[in-house]
Amino acid sequence: MAKSVTCSAPVNIAVIKYWGKRDEELVLPVNSSLSATLHQNELRATTTVSRCESFDKDRMWLNGREQSIDNPRLQACLREIRKIAENGRANEHIHICSVNNFPTAAGLASSAAGYACLVFSLAKLFEIEGDTSTLARQGSGSACRSMYGGFVRWNKGSSLDGSDSCAVQIVSHNHWPELEVLILVVNDQAKGTSSTVGMRRSVETSELLKHRAEAIVPPRLAKLEKAIQEKDFNTFGLLTMQESNQFHAVCLDTYPPIVYMSEISRQIVNIVTCYNDYHKTIKAAYTFDAGPNAVVYVQSGDIPEFLALVKHFFPPSDSTDSFIRGRSTSTGDTPQIEELLRRMASQLRVPGALRYIIHTAVGPGPQVLDPENSLLGPSGLPKTQFLL
Ligand code: DP6
Repeated sequence: MAKSVTCSAPVNIAVIKYWGKRDEELVLPVNSSLSATLHQNELRATTTVSRCESFDKDRMWLNGREQSIDNPRLQACLREIRKIAENGRANEHIHICSVNNFPTAAGLASSAAGYACLVFSLAKLFEIEGDTSTLARQGSGSACRSMYGGFVRWNKGSSLDGSDSCAVQIVSHNHWPELEVLILVVNDQAKGTSSTVGMRRSVETSELLKHRAEAIVPPRLAKLEKAIQEKDFNTFGLLTMQESNQFHAVCLDTYPPIVYMSEISRQIVNIVTCYNDYHKTIKAAYTFDAGPNAVVYVQSGDIPEFLALVKHFFPPSDSTDSFIRGRSTSTGDTPQIEELLRRMASQLRVPGALRYIIHTAVGPGPQVLDPENSLLGPSGLPKTQFLL
């Protein structure tokens, strides 16, 4: 009889970026990082893991297709879990089936949610207690931060075996309920340099990366944590944007340079900057990862106005598709943005520049789901609706 567990896990977006490994094998970073876990209502990975003596090998299905189990990162997670699990179960093979509820084409980091979900599920399957973020880290560095909800710090740690390079929660998702998140999914998802390859090149060639890891990140992290504790949006927003800018500066300081932001990304930066200038305080804060999409933090009261502005400059090209997805935004009143638009008269309007906007918030960590959510049937193979 197979034993199965099904769990879901969230995506996280770094405010202080992880960029560079000091140990590639163990996935140990050159600096500590800090992220917000996003709500699973909008973005999540769901994984079923099953173990049974009658399975003749380990197998894995991802988004409806069987994948090779030989991926070294996946193997590292399985090996480490098996090491900790009781010896008697070592002879059982594992079946893994995982789906994301958001399109991979959206260019949103899916590996963090995927590996967090895998490790969290396996830990439940083998009844492993305690922190397993050090295991998720070996799947994908940023995955360790998806093991908790709210705001999460990944300590770089100092031990050679990586045992202290783990994630810790700073505050839970209930701490700052006014903080909301808009993901502006840009329409041209050109295939860029992967994070793994990009950060390796930065470690090898960027002087700025070294300086940043040693001198800039530690005090910035402390300031940011204080801002989060105090719900000080002004400081939080400023540090978030400066940090994003510096990450992309490191990418440009890399040789050959890496460019993740597009022309539309730069226009989003301009819009946010003009918006904040107009209000003479920080009301919106952008951050960009290894791609052109923007993640913008906005407090709930300012969401309608900011969304009206974004929709003005980047109206959808196709009115049939739902342009704003996720949390409901209808407040009744249409925000008055005429004066704001007058001040931004030189900003270009680009219909169709955004594929869509995901409206979400900071959310909780991984969850164990009821057995009826299982992606695997009783035979240990994916249910037909989870196969392509
Ligand atoms: C820009 O965690 O995807 O999103 O450890 O090589 O799998 P690997 O890299 P990954 O890198 C994430 C980079 C980032 C910043 C961040 O999430 O901190």
